[in-house]
Amino acid sequence: MLNYREYFKPFYQRPVDDLLVNKKNLIGVEIGIFQGHHAREMFEKLDIVKLYLVDPYRKYDSTLSPHLESAKEEAKRVLAEFKDKIVMIYKESVEAVKDIDDESLDFVYIDGGHSYDAVSQDIPAWYPKVKSGGLVGGHDYTPDYFPGVVKAVDEFCKEKGVVLNAKYGVQRKEGPATNRDWWFVK
Ligand SMILES: C[S@@+](CC[C@H](N)C(=O)[O-])C[C@H]1O[C@@H](n2cnc3c(N)ncnc32)[C@H](O)[C@@H]1O
Repeated sequence: MLNYREYFKPFYQRPVDDLLVNKKNLIGVEIGIFQGHHAREMFEKLDIVKLYLVDPYRKYDSTLSPHLESAKEEAKRVLAEFKDKIVMIYKESVEAVKDIDDESLDFVYIDGGHSYDAVSQDIPAWYPKVKSGGLVGGHDYTPDYFPGVVKAVDEFCKEKGVVLNAKYGVQRKEGPATNRDWWFVK
């Protein structure tokens, strides 16, 4: 039988997380929880005191959609030991953001809706919530799979005049490269 820890774990270890190692008492948010595996990696690697996790678990334009109800239950199981440091927000990203104070977060990791419209709403919505010097980033900056993510990120960075970074994580198979983080420092 496939062993999760051996096979999938490397794909949830993201370049953005490496930038937060050695920082203390982190408060952050992940948009898009799904089964909670990346959130768990963050807890295992980083000194997080509070993590807001945002996901409405509602059908959206993705192959993940049919699995959302079981994903929500899986996330509760995967994250159970960190629950005292987690604030679950079962809302759309642009609604959830209203619950968060401006300049209160050390990082935001955007991995919710992957369309151009979704990402081009998420970045400007969450940007004000991050402290100066904090990290704004996300997943799937991959032109072959998610051109809308790339376009929305590029447009925002150009408009703000910030330096965009991108780095691939572990690759799974042959074919176009995937699993690439993007980020900039606010
Ligand atoms: C790619 S999965 C997230 C995977 C997770 N970040 C990880 O790496 O383990 C995308 C998730 O985003 C959620 N999602 C879709 N639209 C959203 C929105 N508007 N706001 C917040 N979450 C959304 C979906 O329900 C889904 O669970």
